[in-house]
Amino acid sequence: MTPPHFSQQSPVPDAGSGGPTGSAPEAAQRRDWPAYFDRMEGKPPRETLIEASAAFDEPGFAVDLGCGAGRDTQELLERGWRVWACDGSEDGLRRARENPVCAGGLDSGSLELSLASFEQIGAGEVTLPSCDLLNASFALPFCPPGCFEQLWKAIDVAIRPGGRFSGQFFGERDSWAILEDRTHLTRPETLALFEAYVIEHLREEDRASTQPDLPHKHWHVFHVVARKRADSHPSA
Ligand SMILES: C[S@@+](CC[C@H](N)C(=O)[O-])C[C@H]1O[C@@H](n2cnc3c(N)ncnc32)[C@H](O)[C@@H]1O
Repeated sequence: MTPPHFSQQSPVPDAGSGGPTGSAPEAAQRRDWPAYFDRMEGKPPRETLIEASAAFDEPGFAVDLGCGAGRDTQELLERGWRVWACDGSEDGLRRARENPVCAGGLDSGSLELSLASFEQIGAGEVTLPSCDLLNASFALPFCPPGCFEQLWKAIDVAIRPGGRFSGQFFGERDSWAILEDRTHLTRPETLALFEAYVIEHLREEDRASTQPDLPHKHWHVFHVVARKRADSHPSA
């Protein structure tokens, strides 16, 4: 089934540009990451990333999962963090490498960029490094449902006790919930991921798109910042 006004296309990352027209959400719907990055160029870092990174007394080591063209990676580097960033899109990593701040991080050794899919991480083919902050901005909903549980286990293992998670989950009332290659969670399912955490920020967005010039999309998004309890036991 296809949501109104949106066409469903290939679920393969870097499926190729769907043409010069279309909004960022339309590009993300069809996983046309080059078109998505074109439309998001110059956007500021995500608020959840800013809040989570600012909550530490001093910068540490961060993983930026689904880093795309590096908008949050850049912010982390500017705040003095060391970063391991990964994405399944070669185009996204190319753009990140061309970002002057990220290029400086690569030169100085404070940034490592890796081409890795959520599927590879979930299957244990790629191991996430242990980190103080794991950021996944608007990325996890694009993990196919069949590998989300394993991906989340890998994320949880990577976050050190006392460390933080920041990112977004899409809810069951989002227009894209009918797309079979996406992971959408209910509020209780989202909260259940954080049993070993203290949730520091949870904002649920459940609204129609507000831009009159764009095709309608209903957004149902959970914005989360959470701190892993210092006494939490390592995940099995
Ligand atoms: C909506 S973009 C968000 C990018 C960036 N984090 C931001 O906040 O702008 C989703 C990102 O997830 C990546 N992605 C989607 N499916 C993926 C997969 N199966 N494995 C790895 N990365 C994936 C895309 O390449 C893209 O960079």
